[in-house]
Amino acid sequence: MIRLQVNGAMQEVVAEPRDSLAAVLRDRLGLHATRIGCAHGSCGACNVLLDGAPARACLVPAVLAVGQEVVTLEGLRDDHIMLSLRAAFQAQHALQCGYCTAGMLIAARDMIQRGCARNPDEIRAGLAGQLCRCTGYDGIVAAILGAAHDARR
Ligand code: FES
Ligand code: FES
Repeated sequence: MIRLQVNGAMQEVVAEPRDSLAAVLRDRLGLHATRIGCAHGSCGACNVLLDGAPARACLVPAVLAVGQEVVTLEGLRDDHIMLSLRAAFQAQHALQCGYCTAGMLIAARDMIQRGCARNPDEIRAGLAGQLCRCTGYDGIVAAILGAAHDARR
C-alpha cells in the first residue's frame, strides 16, 4: 500500500514495485485521461504533471511518485490555460481518435507556461516527443498557437 497525492487529494492504493504510475492512475484510481500508448516513453500519451513538470507516467514506477504531487488532465478542469487549449483543440479540429490528446494537452500547457509556443516552428519542436497517428499535426499546432496567444493577452 502506498499513499499518492493525486489532483489535490491523498489516495491510498495497492502498488507492486513493477507497477507504473500510468497503470495505477488508470486501473486503481479510475483516471482514464492518462493513456498508455507505447508504454516505453516514446509517444507522450501518458503525460502527467509531477511536481508541476510533465512526466511520462508509463516510465515512472508508482512507488517513486510517493511524496510528489501528481496532476492528471482530470485535475486541470478549471485551469485557465487548459480551458483555452480545450476550446482551441475543438475549434481547430485538433483531434480525431483522441488517444494522444490528453498527453498533447499536458505538453502544450507546459510549453505555453514556459513561453515556448510563440510560433509554429517552436510548437512543432516542442511536440517532437508527442506522437499523433491521426491528425497530421496542423490543427494541433494551430490550436496551441491560438491558446498561447490567448494566454499572453
Ligand atoms: S505510453 Fe508513455 S510515452 Fe507512450
Ligand atoms: S488524434 Fe488519434 S492519435 Fe492523435
